[in-house]
Amino acid sequence: MPLVQFLMMEKEIFLSQIYKEKYMKEINVAVTGGAGQIAYSLLPRLISGETFGRDTKVNLRLIEIPQVVDKLQGTIMELIDCGFEQTGELVSTSDIKEGVKDADWILLVGSIPRGIVIDGKKIEERSDLLKINGGIFTDQGAAIGELAKSDAKILVVGNPANTNALIGMNSANNSTQQWFAMTALDANRAKAQLAEKAAAEISSVKNMIIWGNHSPTMYPDPYNATINGASAAEVINDNQWIEDSYLPLVQQRGKAVIDARGASSAASAANAAIDTVKAVINPTKEGDCFSAAVVSDGSYGIPKGLIFGFPLRTNSNGKIEIIQGIELNEFAQTKIKVTTEELESEREAVADLIG
Ligand code: NAD
Ligand code: LMR
Repeated sequence: MPLVQFLMMEKEIFLSQIYKEKYMKEINVAVTGGAGQIAYSLLPRLISGETFGRDTKVNLRLIEIPQVVDKLQGTIMELIDCGFEQTGELVSTSDIKEGVKDADWILLVGSIPRGIVIDGKKIEERSDLLKINGGIFTDQGAAIGELAKSDAKILVVGNPANTNALIGMNSANNSTQQWFAMTALDANRAKAQLAEKAAAEISSVKNMIIWGNHSPTMYPDPYNATINGASAAEVINDNQWIEDSYLPLVQQRGKAVIDARGASSAASAANAAIDTVKAVINPTKEGDCFSAAVVSDGSYGIPKGLIFGFPLRTNSNGKIEIIQGIELNEFAQTKIKVTTEELESEREAVADLIG
């Protein structure tokens, strides 16, 4: 290589290093279940600049159970080999306290998926995971409450996501941190179905609200969702399709993927986690919302304290609000009652874990 070209290259590397050290923001992100399927799709996108911005260096802490933690060395090698400019410090640990200390974001993915056999019994429903996974979230919640940043955001992906978040949030007992359970995958699934049925572009579907639980009782609201600004249900104009096809398909899509793939959704789940983080950190466009479950403040008559899927928006000052004043027809009210009751009974089932 000619000397001049070599020197130019060296200068560029040197300048980008200086830029990185002097001007880039820095963020600490912890991910549990770092060696799992979802994490494999998720991790590169957390450090590529796509999620937190090109001007933000991401220090990543990967957390695993002791039996698996060594495998994270391979994952870290691959993350280094991606060569992203935004890559900060990469750490693996089986110590949740080390993992979440000073974290800005914590993605709680680590937990057992359904579809596998435990003690000779196949885990069929997400709620069957309550007792198996619930216990994980007490210690993790306590560590987060004590050690993560006071404005930390926590996204629970591990199932049953809403009630795991409830357990974690109660253990954390830190009112300035903010807990979310993931329903963005359900929203993406619902948008795709509505767009296909209406032969519309997926980008034309807005205001997709997943009310309630990430479970077969969720209500993916087709009346308040819009296609090119008009109610999706009105555009589609086929109530039978909505009740007999659309709702069960979205509600049971996780199971359908497990049956077809032999493993729980991973790429689409990772994508939904990235969508959620982006939705939380960027202001929501006028006329739109994003879907995630957050602690109920009593909005829409939902009992306070439940982690419930609501329509959310991020304001220009970064505050996340439950959007008020959404009209709920009788059909919606019936569906929302069912999912609320399910979440109440899940809360009762883990009463010993939430103190
Ligand atoms: P996976 O089995 O491939 O990976 C889970 C990982 O978590 C494993 O590597 C395991 O060792 C680790 N783990 C278990 N307990 C842990 C602990 N206490 N601390 C740290 N790590 C721990 O599973 P996956 O496919 O990645 O799915 C993870 C979870 O996400 C499951 O519960 C699944 O049901 C759920 N999920 C949720 C959604 C959603 O929309 N909310 C979508 C898909 C999957
Ligand atoms: C999903 O919706 O794909 C996940 O929650 C996995 C599952 O168990 O359905």
